Amino acid sequence: DATAPTVFGLPLKYVSLVTLAVQNAALSIVMHYSRVSTPPSQSYSPASAVLLNEILKGSISFGIALWRLSKSDVRRPLDQLLRDTFSPDCWKLSIPAVLYVVQNSASVTYQMKILTTAAFSVLLLRRRLTSTKWVSLFFLAAGVAIVQIQTGASTLAPHKPNMPVGSAHESAPLYTHIMSPLKGFGAVTAACFTSGLAGVYFEMVLKNSKADLWVRNVQLSLFSLVPALLPILYGPPVPNSRGFITDLLKNFGCWAWATVAIQVLGGLITAVVIKYSDNILKGFATSLSIILSFLASVILFNFRITPSFLIGSSTVLVATWLYNQPAGKEPTLLVNVVNT
Ligand code: C5P
Repeated sequence: DATAPTVFGLPLKYVSLVTLAVQNAALSIVMHYSRVSTPPSQSYSPASAVLLNEILKGSISFGIALWRLSKSDVRRPLDQLLRDTFSPDCWKLSIPAVLYVVQNSASVTYQMKILTTAAFSVLLLRRRLTSTKWVSLFFLAAGVAIVQIQTGASTLAPHKPNMPVGSAHESAPLYTHIMSPLKGFGAVTAACFTSGLAGVYFEMVLKNSKADLWVRNVQLSLFSLVPALLPILYGPPVPNSRGFITDLLKNFGCWAWATVAIQVLGGLITAVVIKYSDNILKGFATSLSIILSFLASVILFNFRITPSFLIGSSTVLVATWLYNQPAGKEPTLLVNVVNT
């Protein structure tokens, strides 16, 4: 496609996917450091992290939208931006906003999300997936599951109090460790649905209207402020309260800020990926990041490469290759298996 946007001559579609994979890997490494370097008694509040994340993402998106408007011929960019932000259809963003806040407060492991995202893409975006593509998505989910089981991050792993929210692949929903395994599994399943739906819904709003990506991001952040503030305002009172802002930023050391910064970056890259690529390909990028971060951990933390890592990551790589085969060029063996 000759009109596809590029950065430094490379298609933005792929640049954004690769950036997302690197960002995800960086996030899990920084979170690992923050866990080993701070005792649980000094952990910061996940609810504060979610709120800060939304405030920062919203402000940056607002800045980018304003900058883009001021470069164009618009006479009063700020007025125009405010009009665009409070457009009649801005309510549409309230749905992914709530879903994302729920998901960010109860992070999900990826394997099942890959399939729920594909299902919602077919349902809401009327995307067609060939049987080869479905097979590769199953392989992808299985590969991720195999890699994750061996890193000890199984779906029902207890939530570590020190673990910041939104972690891509190391945690389970916040309260599953105090639930029965069945309820825990239910919570994970529900989280996979909300998460798959949030992404696909955002994609639908973005691709079915002409509004600017950054304006949509501002709308998303504004709607997210409400559910992000609720647990802070109505949560358990902070002992020895020292004022709202001081309480909010309690125990926010440099690792916590680094985590929030990388998550903010991740949110912004995610938006670009959803616009120029799609949620299904995003699943491949984040799955590949699991391999990247594990390999980095081998160097940084002396993790050992295990047979299940090799099996899981090969499965992920084969799935990625398979998904990207052009139509009609799928491996014949597989086509025969699928069609019988
Ligand atoms: O787990 P998943 O990859 O769906 O998470 C996407 C992340 O990207 C969420 O933390 C969400 O808040 C963020 N996001 C964003 N802006 C968008 C879309 C997603 O900040 N437009």
